[in-house]
Amino acid sequence: MPRRPPRNFKPSRTAPVESEGPKVGKHEKEFGVPIPGAILPQEYWTQTALKEWPADGLLNWEELFGRKAPVVADLGCGNGRYLLGSSLYRPQFDHLGVDILPVVIRYARRRGNQRGFKNLRFAVGEERVVLEKYIPPGSLHELHVYHPQPYYDPGEIHKRQITPRFLWLAHRALEPGGLLVLQTDHPAYWKYMLQVAPIFFEFQAHPEPWEDAPRGRTRREILARKRGLQIFRGLGRARKDLDPAEAQRRAEALPPPVFNADRRLIELDRMERV
Ligand SMILES: C[S@@+](CC[C@H](N)C(=O)[O-])C[C@H]1O[C@@H](n2cnc3c(N)ncnc32)[C@H](O)[C@@H]1O
Repeated sequence: MPRRPPRNFKPSRTAPVESEGPKVGKHEKEFGVPIPGAILPQEYWTQTALKEWPADGLLNWEELFGRKAPVVADLGCGNGRYLLGSSLYRPQFDHLGVDILPVVIRYARRRGNQRGFKNLRFAVGEERVVLEKYIPPGSLHELHVYHPQPYYDPGEIHKRQITPRFLWLAHRALEPGGLLVLQTDHPAYWKYMLQVAPIFFEFQAHPEPWEDAPRGRTRREILARKRGLQIFRGLGRARKDLDPAEAQRRAEALPPPVFNADRRLIELDRMERV
């Protein structure tokens, strides 16, 4: 069982040199913006990997985290920057990050482990499968999606994450009144989100930078801001008056996301990869 760091543990303010390996007490930076938390001495490291999905059913949050606490999920979490910050600043919440790319989950886990977080797990997975098969309905306190991939090629449009079906499953996964957070730097994707999210959520745009991370909550947000792109953010509470059957019916009646993605943003997508 990892011990707590000593009370007088003071992280240094200088960034480590990547090639020299983890530097205890130092703050890492990404594009000049500190990554939340400091690297602890190895005896305080934890294990943030969720290596296997349940063979035959739903996740059991209490078993996974060893306590009963509200759960926050980030689907398509990339290198996990948002969840590292939330785990640090909101220790009363448990957190799950999921991404389809093993390499980004490796970065996320390593940072989570080295910061000694016990309220954080990262898993490789396909977000729609995770939402449908493994997250117990009504069990999430918050669901976050930052900068879902726009998929530029017509043959890949079916991979777009924010669809009516996804929003129905998100509504089902959240507690009544639970929070959905959506963010993108694609104007066309945002326009689509504004069209469909309010059907399932009391959804409102939040144009101001995040108070907890004014330079950006995620790697992609930081990159996009550096490029001078507008960031579109929205928050919504799951509609309490919408029952699951009606939510499904609405999802089936709504249009899929077939907007034309702005190909000028492709370069940013390439840079976004860790
Ligand atoms: C543009 S990146 C954004 C990453 C992170 N949310 C951020 O804002 O920095 C999109 C992420 O979604 C992940 N992704 C794409 N399709 C996915 C899927 N079907 N299931 C899970 N993750 C997916 C990608 O691997 C990538 O890490």
